[in-house]
Amino acid sequence: MFLRLAVLLLVSYCACAAQSYDVIVVGLGSSGVTASSILAKAGRKVLGLEAMDRIGGRVKTVSFGDGVIEEGAEWIAGTENSRVYDLAIENNITVLPQDFDSLIFRSDGNQTYNKAYYDLLNLVMEKSMGASDPSFKSEGDYLTAEILSFIKKNYPHLENDKVFIDQVLDLMNFLISVYVASNDWHDITTQSSDEGLGGHQYTSWHVHGYKTFFELMLNTYKNGPGLPNLDIKLSTEVSQIVWPKDGSGDVKVKCADGSTHTAKHVIVTVSLGVLKERSKWYSNPYTRGSYTFDNLDTPKYPKARETLGSPLLDANGVPRVLFAGEATNPAQFGTVHGASESGHREAMRILNK
Ligand SMILES: Cc1cc2nc3c(=O)[nH]c(=O)nc-3n(C[C@H](O)[C@H](O)[C@H](O)COP(=O)(O)OP(=O)(O)OC[C@H]3O[C@@H](n4cnc5c(N)ncnc54)[C@H](O)[C@@H]3O)c2cc1C
Ligand SMILES: *[C@@H]1O[C@H](CO)[C@@H](O)[C@H](O)[C@H]1NC(C)=O
Ligand SMILES: *[C@@H]1O[C@H](CO)[C@@H](O)[C@H](O)[C@H]1NC(C)=O
Repeated sequence: MFLRLAVLLLVSYCACAAQSYDVIVVGLGSSGVTASSILAKAGRKVLGLEAMDRIGGRVKTVSFGDGVIEEGAEWIAGTENSRVYDLAIENNITVLPQDFDSLIFRSDGNQTYNKAYYDLLNLVMEKSMGASDPSFKSEGDYLTAEILSFIKKNYPHLENDKVFIDQVLDLMNFLISVYVASNDWHDITTQSSDEGLGGHQYTSWHVHGYKTFFELMLNTYKNGPGLPNLDIKLSTEVSQIVWPKDGSGDVKVKCADGSTHTAKHVIVTVSLGVLKERSKWYSNPYTRGSYTFDNLDTPKYPKARETLGSPLLDANGVPRVLFAGEATNPAQFGTVHGASESGHREAMRILNK
């Protein structure tokens, strides 16, 4: 009797496990959640598999007192043609354009050079935003030349102050590298394909937190019921994807917990893992870095991001394994909106088939 029950349970378990999806999305960051929600809303049966125990990837909003802290992405970086900004506005979420100003202090409290530092900081922010000069090898070389000529013109008495100059260059290198997510400004090409978006560059979700972006897409905002066509499994690390090159059968997605899931298409959104030690985003095995930038080698491979984002086609020309994520976006990489755009791109590739 007991044995028989056990056998029955086993059989029905196998029947559940064999459910096949239209699309499996690996990774539920900005690109994965965008793709999943578009496909589920279009009537496709979708399974989202996420290795971490939460949704958001490199967006991580944590509660703090009455408000929130963003451990990952904080700003809606540009408001024109941004899927992120548009979704906030459509849902009447009050987002907040923020401008920041900075003061520089030396650790010994000496304020002698404060104005020079301040002017140079503004110079660097302004020059690094605009188109840089392609005759320089790296962003570091280009900005160093700009800084030195600015000092020569505006602070001639500091031109030969080696200690001051070294400190300025160190500080600006640090600031630019944090901003771009490089290790050093000499690693950044001046010929980046980054176009950015127009409009205000630092719009904040403030008290709502960036997590709201995901809740809106998934229909869980304010305890919404979610999306009926989307199943989500958290804490489920994908370890292998087997796809039928000859076009027969489903794509198989194997997970570290031993489970296997099948679907007609799989969208892979795991990060490129630009290796950066500074940061706990680097030690996190599921992100391996904060975000990508165009380094000195990038201009040699102008189609690298497109290549990274091109799908694996089976013998019938059907895309079976597709790739999204910020690193696959040729002109808007390194951002939440760029990642979202790439998820939209791959969802549409499936829907148009
Ligand atoms: C500190 C920091 C600050 C930033 N600031 C900004 C900002 O202000 N504005 C802005 O626009 N952008 C910012 N960014 C960049 C932005 O966060 C990213 O570009 C964007 O979130 C990336 O989304 P994605 O979907 O491409 O990748 P991810 O968010 O990395 O999503 C991929 C998902 O795949 C999962 N995964 C990985 N391996 C597996 C596996 N084997 N099986 C299953 N799942 C797996 C990961 O856990 C992750 O959830 C910042 C990033 C960081 C780290
Ligand atoms: C946003 O506000 C407008 C105007 O008050 C209203 O018509 C609309 O339904 C609201 N949208 C949502 C999603 O709440
Ligand atoms: C501050 O630094 C400048 C430049 O190094 C130096 O000339 C000045 O004496 C310092 N002031 C004090 C109070 O230490």
